[in-house]
Amino acid sequence: MLKCIIQKSQFISPSTQLLITRQNSMFRGSFDRDSVISKDAAVMNILYLNASHGPESLVGCGARTFLDNLKTEHKIREVNLWKDSLVSYRLEHAISKMKILNKKGTEEDKKLFDPVLREAELINCVDLVLISTPMWNYSIPYTLKQYIDVIVQPGINFSDEPAPAGAAGKPVLVISSAGGTYPRGGPIQDFLNPYLQQIFALMGFTQFRNIFIQNTMKVSKQESLKWTNDQAIYHANEISNNFNTKTR
Ligand SMILES: Cc1cc2nc3c(=O)[nH]c(=O)nc-3n(C[C@H](O)[C@H](O)[C@H](O)COP(=O)(O)O)c2cc1C
Repeated sequence: MLKCIIQKSQFISPSTQLLITRQNSMFRGSFDRDSVISKDAAVMNILYLNASHGPESLVGCGARTFLDNLKTEHKIREVNLWKDSLVSYRLEHAISKMKILNKKGTEEDKKLFDPVLREAELINCVDLVLISTPMWNYSIPYTLKQYIDVIVQPGINFSDEPAPAGAAGKPVLVISSAGGTYPRGGPIQDFLNPYLQQIFALMGFTQFRNIFIQNTMKVSKQESLKWTNDQAIYHANEISNNFNTKTR
């Protein structure tokens, strides 16, 4: 049976977020760029990271229902993680990154790393990250990890400075599916949701929401789809209301 309870949002506390960002200051340096990306505050900018197996997959359907039920003006940038060409992050990028952070980067290093930083900057004008992904081997598919490894960059979208007092964390909604079940505290762990919660909190998306569709091997598609759509509508209403209240 599917769980009928709505999985409410979970907030990462400012002290935990500070701990996460401080731990990530392992490079002891950050990129220093003047970048101003302007955006209309009344329009919700959505980054949709789509790793679903196809249009009929439960996570893809859930994402569509969510977007169709938003009650706020919004713009969607969809990245199809299976079809779009992503920055192909190689060892050379990692070497150039460390050189730049240690103030030893050459013009060649900066040129190689520039597309990475441009991609990383885009997340700063995003109001909501929506992710649709199946579970692969207890975690996320490699293509989603590749995207994350490109965009997470110190000084661009995170720093070890505490967030300004009263700064509201932005939402990330993860719609994921798994053939098995992963009860909290059980012997087999879900590494997908905790990982995405932690990595997006690092970049200021501290309001974690998830729709975790479990047991797809045993539960009928119809039942799973109904549950998914109910959850998607619930989160669309809440996220729209929160955004409209904030921008009114
Ligand atoms: C390569 C691969 C790895 C998978 N690994 C897991 C896994 O570790 N645990 C699990 O419960 N399901 C696993 N699955 C099952 C997927 O999560 C399954 O395809 C999904 O529940 C189908 O949902 P969808 O309708 O959203 O595509 C895996 C599937 C594939 C193709």
